[in-house]
Amino acid sequence: MSSSPSSRIQNPALRRKVMSAADAAALIPPGATVGMSGFTGAGYPKQVPQALAARMQAERAAGRPFQIDLWTGASTAPELDGALAQADGLRRRLPFQSDPLCRERINAGAIDYVDIHLSHVAQHAWFGFLGRMQVAVVEVLGILPDGRLIPSTAVGNNKTWLEIADQVILEVNALPPAEMEGMHDIYYGTAIPPRRQPIHLTQPTERIGEPYLRVDPAKVIAVVETCQGDRNTAFAKPDATSNQIAAHIIDFLAHEVKMDRLPQNMLPLQSGVGNVANAVLTGLLDGPFDHLLGFTEVLQDGMLELIKRGKMTAASATAISLSSEAQKEFNDHIAFYRDRIVLRPQEISNHPELVRRLGVIAMNAMIEADIYGNINSTHILGTGMMNGIGGSGDYARNGYLSFFVTPSVAKGGAVSCIVPMVSHVDHTEHDTQIIVTEQGLADLRGLSPRQRAQVVIDRCAHPDYRPLLQDYFDRARRQGAQHTPHLLGEALSWHDRCLRTGSMRP
Ligand code: COA
Repeated sequence: MSSSPSSRIQNPALRRKVMSAADAAALIPPGATVGMSGFTGAGYPKQVPQALAARMQAERAAGRPFQIDLWTGASTAPELDGALAQADGLRRRLPFQSDPLCRERINAGAIDYVDIHLSHVAQHAWFGFLGRMQVAVVEVLGILPDGRLIPSTAVGNNKTWLEIADQVILEVNALPPAEMEGMHDIYYGTAIPPRRQPIHLTQPTERIGEPYLRVDPAKVIAVVETCQGDRNTAFAKPDATSNQIAAHIIDFLAHEVKMDRLPQNMLPLQSGVGNVANAVLTGLLDGPFDHLLGFTEVLQDGMLELIKRGKMTAASATAISLSSEAQKEFNDHIAFYRDRIVLRPQEISNHPELVRRLGVIAMNAMIEADIYGNINSTHILGTGMMNGIGGSGDYARNGYLSFFVTPSVAKGGAVSCIVPMVSHVDHTEHDTQIIVTEQGLADLRGLSPRQRAQVVIDRCAHPDYRPLLQDYFDRARRQGAQHTPHLLGEALSWHDRCLRTGSMRP
């Protein structure tokens, strides 16, 4: 397939539907529920959302407010979430975002944000739990003569959006390498309970579906040609803190191998979003493990480098989200990576059945943990949304091992990431096995709450906050017999102090 947009549209009927982004955006009615492609800044439509935002702004100026409900795979980019938030065009948003403007509007109470486990989204939409979808806007890399679609750099929820939307707008992007054709594995074997069958994926990069997305051509109302790259994510260079976190994890994994609780080449790895999770994977480059496998939702720079250096044999994901240098490496060696990476719908990449059966090792970053192992992945000081839960819950609850990682302090030390009680709970103590900071690693498996608290304080707290946590725990225990000792009047006082003074320090 060539790289010119038009030559990527090989179906004559769909070629006749090519139009400008503005004309396509004009087909989206005010108040519609719109499903767009996009997962962690990859594979999102580039032109139609911006044209829609321009139309929203013009309508607003004319006194006619224009908003939509927007569902995606996960986070997108300034051209999508940013543009629509700027135009005050989002009424309801799900299931995950990380855009600064969108976040600001959510935290101002202007957008109803519904933060959902990423494995739940497609099925909840399919079950009809979320209402009807009028329009899907999906980026693809090409249209075959028979109308099937070559998926883009992210698969996300596209299969489901194309199935359930009343109408479909396709953006055909000519920039990603045409040689990506064949990388994808779209599974069409699921059904709604009680007809649902087991998913026969028995090793992470096995193919159980087909390389193309299906769409009913009669539903396609517009095709827009684009030639534009994804949002490239710049990752912070691993620093002393993230290197220490990675070293603790590698020591722990080596010990698990020695104890015969893990095979020498480990089990499939999942790594979450953000700088810290990316840095942990970078740390594995120098670790003692070879022939690794990835079973993750987003493949970032760290995992690409493991594949490049031969430390990881192959990986399964739903999206590829890279920095510009890693993107160049991927494009320049596409044949190499096409053989080693499989991109799947997020309902499969994050599927609890598969995560549990394959024995995934889950590593996710967090905002804060409490001494008992409850985890806050999403909220700053209990009330402000950061990004969302993403797939962290899908992997943490079902993984063979589940790590949550964070530097022990944030905001230059003014905030402790280990607190008496988390200000918001995303993952309960029941789903948390191992907590890691640069200070050390707390292995909570098999421990009671009081045992957990002592290990978390000793191993993970920053020295500036450790005596304060110990004092809290000691006083809570002295109160009398309790299974999970707390001083309820004080449990959130660290957050309250931070809100008032800008610091958790007394
Ligand atoms: N209190 C206040 N702010 C905090 C904080 C805390 N306890 N912990 C972190 N932060 C702030 C940091 O200061 C930083 O702010 P800045 O952007 O203003 O500098 C920001 O949160 C990000 O922190 P950073 O240390 O750079 O972490 P990260 O890039 O690794 O992201 C999460 C961490 C938790 C925000 C991110 O991993 C996330 O959104 N996770 C939830 C979704 C998820 O786990 N998905 C995984 C499946 S793919």
